[in-house]
Amino acid sequence: MCGIVGYVGKSDRTVHVLLRGLERLEYRGYDSAGIAVLKDHHVDVVKKSGKLDCLKACVDPEWKTEIGIGHTRWATHGSANQENAHPHQVGKVTAVHNGIIENMDEIKKELSQANVVFRSDTDSEVLVALLNQIYEKCGNMLMAIEKTMKKVVGSYAVALLCEDDEEHIYVMKKDSPLLLGVGKGEMFVASDYQAFCEDTKEYVLLDDFEYGVIGRSAWHVYKDGKEFQKKIEVLEEREELSEKGEYDCYMHKEIYDIPGVLSQLFLFYEKQDTHHIPDYTKYHKIQIVACGSAYHAGCVGKAFFSHIAHFPVEIEYASEYRYQPILADKDTLVIFVSQSGETADTIYCAKKIKELGIDSLAIVNVYNSTLSRLTDYVYYMRAGEERAVATTKGYSSQVALFLIILREWMQARKCWTASLEEEYQQGKRKLFEVFPTCLKKYEQFPWISKLTEQPMNFFIGRQIDYALSLEASLKLKEVTYLNSCAYPAGELKHGTISLIEKGTVVFAIATDLDTYEKTKSNLMEVKARGAYVILTTLEDVVKEVEADEWILVPNIGHLFQPMITILPFQLLSYHVAKSFDLDVDHPRNLAKSVTVE
Ligand code: AGP
Ligand code: GLU
Repeated sequence: MCGIVGYVGKSDRTVHVLLRGLERLEYRGYDSAGIAVLKDHHVDVVKKSGKLDCLKACVDPEWKTEIGIGHTRWATHGSANQENAHPHQVGKVTAVHNGIIENMDEIKKELSQANVVFRSDTDSEVLVALLNQIYEKCGNMLMAIEKTMKKVVGSYAVALLCEDDEEHIYVMKKDSPLLLGVGKGEMFVASDYQAFCEDTKEYVLLDDFEYGVIGRSAWHVYKDGKEFQKKIEVLEEREELSEKGEYDCYMHKEIYDIPGVLSQLFLFYEKQDTHHIPDYTKYHKIQIVACGSAYHAGCVGKAFFSHIAHFPVEIEYASEYRYQPILADKDTLVIFVSQSGETADTIYCAKKIKELGIDSLAIVNVYNSTLSRLTDYVYYMRAGEERAVATTKGYSSQVALFLIILREWMQARKCWTASLEEEYQQGKRKLFEVFPTCLKKYEQFPWISKLTEQPMNFFIGRQIDYALSLEASLKLKEVTYLNSCAYPAGELKHGTISLIEKGTVVFAIATDLDTYEKTKSNLMEVKARGAYVILTTLEDVVKEVEADEWILVPNIGHLFQPMITILPFQLLSYHVAKSFDLDVDHPRNLAKSVTVE
């Protein structure tokens, strides 16, 4: 979601650092961008709707100034036009904001009565106007921030410039991530360390309700009017930035990263003492809470636990979980899954669970992210930086971690049998054996044009194949904008089958041999109504079905199968998007890290 970057330091670096920072944050998803620089008690703002290139075209790279802020906006309040783009300037205050001000109507009304005129439809401008009004009265920016924080309800990460102070950037934070980058003779602020990690590895993580100020050579953080001591964190090597290399986009590259990521992941977690394992024997219930693809990985996790450990698992969308009574207790382990570790809904739930003193575990990629700091146990996905908005290697590593956790769980409960271990070792060996051939094989789908002809595509499957259908369908929607939806195979006939007509594409995923015959019947039902059926099944299954097309996947055993079955769909979505000439890495309207509710 929206990105914030700020810099105070050398005059010939400011514009470069701001634009490069915004470029680094592009992967989060945005619809407009802007920067503001302060010089001679005057703030200049340049902002544009659309991609960063539109902004860059209007910024003089030789602009000399020692202090500035920048922003990529993902619109929540008001359309994605230039007026609504950040930075917003009201009186002496110019700011960039990430988040949502929930009581904006009330504040806007009060400010309008005091003759404040608004130029945008955003909640952010209301926040800036409030800061300015309080600052005009008290003349002290830190005090103005403190008072503003008491008045606003919602989420915010803010970096602001004040015309009266040419040497400092002020910041405030609640529920949206914000970090200070500590350099030598220069200081940074950003919503994500990627914005400044080429310049400094040292950073300070702000926590909720903290605010502060950065100058060229010092930083100060406050809470409730008092200065607050914070630890300087140091970036680890594994947080290094990823590059596209020979690939035309990150999504394609990240799909090719999967075998390497998974092999390192298994190696790491199979070693003793690399991570802190909960006492898995003490829990009577598992709840999985996540959003989007992370939720879909959780669905595979749930299927693993039900079918292999015969242990009941509940799974909930974080955006629903947060509004329902928490039906968990001290005997429950709540597993949060998130690539970014910053998804607002997931974070909210993790905070609630922490307050209740219930054990929690995070499956998370970004090191030191908010989620990783809120939970009792952390299983890092170790997938490296994922830049494409549509997750691929992130999802696959989450699925792999569910298998790792299942094995540890069953080992702790003494029910991981020798034959399961043998299946595990064999499956793992086969997975890495088949990956190179599979990557090559799914680079081409001769029937790809079938997808473009129909208003709707369906994915059906049962059990773990249904879990995979959910992700396959989301991937297709996200990057190709083709309409698709996933159904449990047996559910279609309870209503949705009315949508099947001649030529409707139905992807049937049937790798689970226990339910293969049943899914086959459902496939025949849609075929009888004219559907164009593309069946995904195991290579060694007898081709006795009348599918129109086949996606055959090698049979590598039920433990590792999902990690290979999803691969053709990840590649298919990429190829369809390419054939439509779409921006694969930055699909419209999407954000990589959804930091608003
Ligand atoms: C992934 O392709 C999606 N863009 C999205 O569904 C994502 O999985 C979801 O927003 C959760 O993100 P997280 O893993 O960072 O929490
Ligand atoms: N709510 C603000 C807006 O719509 C900020 C959105 C964001 O986080 O980018 O401008």
